[in-house]
Amino acid sequence: MKRYEIREDERGRGLFDNQLGDFFHNRQGIFEEAHHVFIKNGCMAWREKHQKKRRVRILEMGFGTGVNCICVYNWAQSERIDVEYISLDLYPLDMDTQQDFWQADFSKMEPYIKADWRSSFNEGGFTRFTQETVDFGLQKIVYDIKCLRDLSILKKSVDVVMFDAFSPDAQPELWQITVFKEIFDVQVSGGLWVSYASRTMIKKALEQSGYRIKIKEGALGKREMLQAWVPVDQCT
Ligand SMILES: C[S@@+](CC[C@H](N)C(=O)[O-])C[C@H]1O[C@@H](n2cnc3c(N)ncnc32)[C@H](O)[C@@H]1O
Repeated sequence: MKRYEIREDERGRGLFDNQLGDFFHNRQGIFEEAHHVFIKNGCMAWREKHQKKRRVRILEMGFGTGVNCICVYNWAQSERIDVEYISLDLYPLDMDTQQDFWQADFSKMEPYIKADWRSSFNEGGFTRFTQETVDFGLQKIVYDIKCLRDLSILKKSVDVVMFDAFSPDAQPELWQITVFKEIFDVQVSGGLWVSYASRTMIKKALEQSGYRIKIKEGALGKREMLQAWVPVDQCT
C-alpha cells in the first residue's frame, strides 16, 4: 500500500498518511484552519506582544505540504517582518505526493507564490526568498522532533513554535512532556508555542514543561485550541 494518498468524500479532499492513520489537515478548510491556528493565534498573537521586533524565528513541527509555511510567508509580507522559518519533518513528502496534493488547490495561491516555491518544497536544505518587503529564510530539516536537544542550531532562539503534529491519537508519543520540555528549552523569553489541539493531558504536559497556557477558540467550530507562552521572567 502507498504510504500517502489523496482521499475525497463528503467531508472534503485531503492527504492521508496510511502508516500513521491520519489526515494532514482539517479537510473542511485547510487554509482556514492553518490561518486561524498558526497565523491569528500564532504569529499575530506573538506580534502583538513584540511590536518592536523586525525579525521572527519560527520553528515548525511537521512541514508536510507547506501550507503553514505559505500562510506565514503571506503574513510576513503584509506585516513587513523578516522571517527565519525552520521546519522539521521526519518523513518529508516525495515530489509525486506534493504534486497530487497541490494540483487542485495551488491555483488559488498563484497570486502569492512563485513557481520556484514548488520545487523548493520537495528538497531539503535552505532557501531564501527576498522580496522588496521582506527577507524570508526557509530551512527544511529532515529530523525527529523527539531529538530536539541535539539540534544545536536552535539554541535558545525560537520566538514561535508551530506544533503541527498528527493528532494525539495517531502519534501520542509526540504530545508528551519530554518533547515539550525540549521545545521549551529552545524558546526565548516571551515566546509562543501554538497548536490546534486542546486535550487536558496536553495542557498539563505543557504546564509541567514551564509554559503558561491560554485556551483560545478553535478553528472551524472546534471548541478550543492552545497557546502556551514562555513566561517573561524565564529570561536568561
Ligand atoms: C499534520 S502533518 C503536518 C502538516 C503540515 N504542517 C502541512 O502544512 O502540510 C504532521 C507532519 O509531521 C511529520 N512528522 C511525523 N512524525 C515526526 C517526528 N517524529 N518528527 C518530525 N516530524 C514528524 C509528518 O511527516 C507530517 O509531515
